[in-house]
Amino acid sequence: MRDLFSKRSIAGEVEPNELARLRERLSAVGWPLKDLSQSNPTQVGLVRAAALFSLDSPENSIYNPEPRGLLRARAALSEHFAHKHRNISPDNLFLCASTSEGYSWLFKLLCDAGDAVLIPKPGYPLFEHLAALEEVHTLAYPLEYAHASGWHIDVAAMEATLASELGKRVKALIVINPNNPTGSYVRKKEREAILELCERRGLALVADEVFFDFPLDEAVERHSFIGEERVLTFVLDGLSKRLGMPQMKLGWIAVSGPSREVARAKKRLELIADTFLSAGTPVMNALSSLLAQESVFVDSLLGRIRENYSIYRSILEEPGSPHRVLACQGGWTALIESPAILEEEKIAALLLQQKSIAAQPGFFFDIERGVHFAFSLIIPPQWASAWSREYRELFDALLAQ
Ligand SMILES: Cc1ncc(COP(=O)(O)O)c(C=O)c1O
Repeated sequence: MRDLFSKRSIAGEVEPNELARLRERLSAVGWPLKDLSQSNPTQVGLVRAAALFSLDSPENSIYNPEPRGLLRARAALSEHFAHKHRNISPDNLFLCASTSEGYSWLFKLLCDAGDAVLIPKPGYPLFEHLAALEEVHTLAYPLEYAHASGWHIDVAAMEATLASELGKRVKALIVINPNNPTGSYVRKKEREAILELCERRGLALVADEVFFDFPLDEAVERHSFIGEERVLTFVLDGLSKRLGMPQMKLGWIAVSGPSREVARAKKRLELIADTFLSAGTPVMNALSSLLAQESVFVDSLLGRIRENYSIYRSILEEPGSPHRVLACQGGWTALIESPAILEEEKIAALLLQQKSIAAQPGFFFDIERGVHFAFSLIIPPQWASAWSREYRELFDALLAQ
């Protein structure tokens, strides 16, 4: 019989893996879990001013369906970025509900069913679903880790992938700047090579910069893709990370590049945006005052991120420790490399059963070799300290057996 449902939604019926089921079972019986990978900024004890904004304002009773989002909100964003020397006209900004939705709009704009996009590996797991829901394939390009110099994008591997059969259907190259979970910014040399590749192959560039303003060290080399003119460029960002407010549901796409392509992209994006009109009026009206809180939020979170990174290093890299905290330049995650005594999934299960610790294993991010876990840098430092000690104890006990 003909299947009632689409192939693109099949992932919804795939059974959760063993680890996810174990976690669900423990949560269902009220087992108090210590989430060492917690990256939800509303669940990590950050103190906020009580009233973010009021819905009870006359301007919120008016619906003005502007496809790109209300001009006053786009103007506020443009001004906000101008202070950071990242120039983008309000006219080239498209507001949507989230960065994830921004991706789906870009896939609709750029790809037909069966086309493909290049994505980083290790990388953000949601890509697979976002792409599959648009019937788009993902092809991974590797980031390699070197102990002395950290993570590097393998540009030669991108070229090789593009030369493959499916590579011919690639329409866009996606970079995350800095990448999640590796915490690596796109270096100047890599940026040059990527732009050259996009230009030569006629690819659009999509740069996800949700973590851009969270560098672990002020001196780290980082360059935003906002306003990039060489190739058709879309920079994705939103309030989810920038203000730690995923619940506000506001993201945006900043479009730049050669003027003819930008003009065509904007007309088509406008149609897509007009079809959904996703961004809510109250959050758009409040955007200017919300953005005014950004520096307080970012500064306080940066303090926590930097403290947690050094806590993980001091606990897990003590002399004689078998663990390593991988170099990280920015973002909300530290990657821990641990001895491969058992498979990641088994270690993750033991962490849950014996220590009540939930931690995302490396396979979740497509890390193929060794044993890795992603530790959150945004949890309260006392959790980071206590839970990473417990993590270490589990390995000590396993190694002693
Ligand atoms: C790299 C990256 N991009 C986008 C998102 C999602 O952002 P949003 O909440 O705006 O969809 C995340 C969430 O963790 C992320 O890690």
